[in-house]
Amino acid sequence: MRDPRRVAILISGRGSNMKALVEQAQGYEVALIASNKPLAPGLEWARSAGLPTWTWDSKGVDKDEFDRVLSAALEDHDVGTIALAGFMRILSPSFIDRWRGRIVNIHPSLLPKYRGLDTHARAIAAGDAVSGCSVHLVTEELDAGEVLGIAEVPILPDDIAQTLEQRVLAAEHHLYPEILSEFVKR
Ligand code: GRF
Repeated sequence: MRDPRRVAILISGRGSNMKALVEQAQGYEVALIASNKPLAPGLEWARSAGLPTWTWDSKGVDKDEFDRVLSAALEDHDVGTIALAGFMRILSPSFIDRWRGRIVNIHPSLLPKYRGLDTHARAIAAGDAVSGCSVHLVTEELDAGEVLGIAEVPILPDDIAQTLEQRVLAAEHHLYPEILSEFVKR
């Protein structure tokens, strides 16, 4: 059994949650930053912060092949926990099975509400008074694994998706490091 405190963070884009997880790491260490997008801005930040990085452009690559190579990179770095942070790829069932119970994600809604994309626009359109974010276990079903923690964010009368997104994102940056610190102990 690998040490759950050795965390890999998987990103595809700007990586603001990755940055929060790195800067507020408590009780875990960041063993690897991995990306399926070689030009992800977050990857550049990780390199300049001196963190180990791995990347392979997933475009046009067979899904199972990509996930096998990614899995091998995670094993090479003795990773025990995988934190998805804006990783815009559905992981293959065999990858999820290999790392079962050890993959977490942050999602910008109060799960089980609004799985999938466009969560903020959907919450506003529904007339919800409160939105927020959830950290959850990753299973084969999209955004449906056990919820490990949530943070609520009020929806204001003049909110549009972008303004709500900004406030939820700020909440994500507090919630994710806190829940990950607790999760690696279990
Ligand atoms: C966030 O909205 C997060 O909730 C979702 O993907 C986005 C990632 O943003 N899973 P960032 O790359 O961490 O800035």
